[in-house]
Amino acid sequence: MAGYVALMDAAGDAATLARAVAQWRDDTPGTKHRHHLNNAGAALPPSVVMDAVHSHLDLEATIGGYEAAAAAGGAIDDCYRSLGSLLRVAPHNIAVTSSATAAYAQALSAFDFAPGDTIVTTNADYLSNRIMFEALSARRGVRVIEAAELPEGGVDPAAVAAAIAAARPRLVAVTWVPTFGGLVQRVEDVGGICSDAGVPYLVDGCQAVGQLDIDVVAVRCDFMAATARKFLRGPRGIGFLYVSDSALARGMHPLLVDMRGANWNASGSYSTYDGARRFEQWEQPLALLLGMGAAARYALDAGIARTAARAHALASAAREQLTRIPGVRSLDHAPRLSAIASFECEGHDASALVPALRALGVNVSSQSRDENAVALGRLGAGSLLRVSPHYYNDASDLDALEAALRELLTP
Ligand SMILES: Cc1ncc(COP(=O)(O)O)c(C=O)c1O
Repeated sequence: MAGYVALMDAAGDAATLARAVAQWRDDTPGTKHRHHLNNAGAALPPSVVMDAVHSHLDLEATIGGYEAAAAAGGAIDDCYRSLGSLLRVAPHNIAVTSSATAAYAQALSAFDFAPGDTIVTTNADYLSNRIMFEALSARRGVRVIEAAELPEGGVDPAAVAAAIAAARPRLVAVTWVPTFGGLVQRVEDVGGICSDAGVPYLVDGCQAVGQLDIDVVAVRCDFMAATARKFLRGPRGIGFLYVSDSALARGMHPLLVDMRGANWNASGSYSTYDGARRFEQWEQPLALLLGMGAAARYALDAGIARTAARAHALASAAREQLTRIPGVRSLDHAPRLSAIASFECEGHDASALVPALRALGVNVSSQSRDENAVALGRLGAGSLLRVSPHYYNDASDLDALEAALRELLTP
């Protein structure tokens, strides 16, 4: 492992980086208990996140839930500001949801799909999103087209342009950082094409938020769905949706808008509120929202450009280190790789390796053909082991994984 630490912070010297890593680990109690390399599942949160959650739950229990919400009004506004800063947009472009999937579904429901409408997507889009498209296909007669890949990996923006010209889709949908396969999609290039053609664009940013330095306006999407618990290091059970000013100006709102998103007029009709709040639902887990806000502030303070560089360098180190083990093959194939590294371990079902590694103190995750036959078939793997480091991980985590895997794979 020697040498890679120095590679990780082009902007700073190795000693400064080492001090920062020590601080990040100190701020993260979980690092004392586990080698946590499952940040694409749910990252270990820093203490400030859990403090924000616990103190609001305590306040709710002490003075009452609605009264605690009133007392925390300023802090809640700050959460929207921090999430906006993370994406470089205004707070009114952010809607809080219960997960990335809920955010995605709210956005999808804003399109009144009719039989014959087309959605253009990629072959690496998130499984739940693809299932939603298939449901729209079965129930609403929507056609789903997969734009072709580039030989070097990732969707071909020219294929998206060709699909737009041929099918005039209602929507183009791309998952920025797929859940495995190591890929970072060229979402900005696709965004330029959609924007020139006037076709709405929905990005799944679930694995991108907290992992990449994001300027969402440069992506030129109408919507981007995200979650708190992954590379952002927030709590489970909460996420958010970015809604562009142009989608808001067009009056877009979810099919089943509630009283958080709209008021009921004297005439008996409804008017949506300004801003992305129209994509929210009335009941909100405010303790989790405060935790997500604390996570966004922590990420901004840590400096996303350097934490992203370190997470990506650790994932490259994992690819190099683990493929030295006989029978372990990297499944990542892309010009720009993410902090998610996927491996096939010959002769071993990855879903059985996960609990065995956990018993040795190392957290990773897996996916099998039963869960996702199409994607695993495309990768030519029976199952895959997913290793997703983040900037607070260090060489001791990768070394522990390598040692544990060698032990488990040795006949
Ligand atoms: C790319 C991607 N999109 C969406 C999701 C769903 O996120 P959530 O569980 O918060 O709905 C995941 C979860 O793993 C994901 O990896």
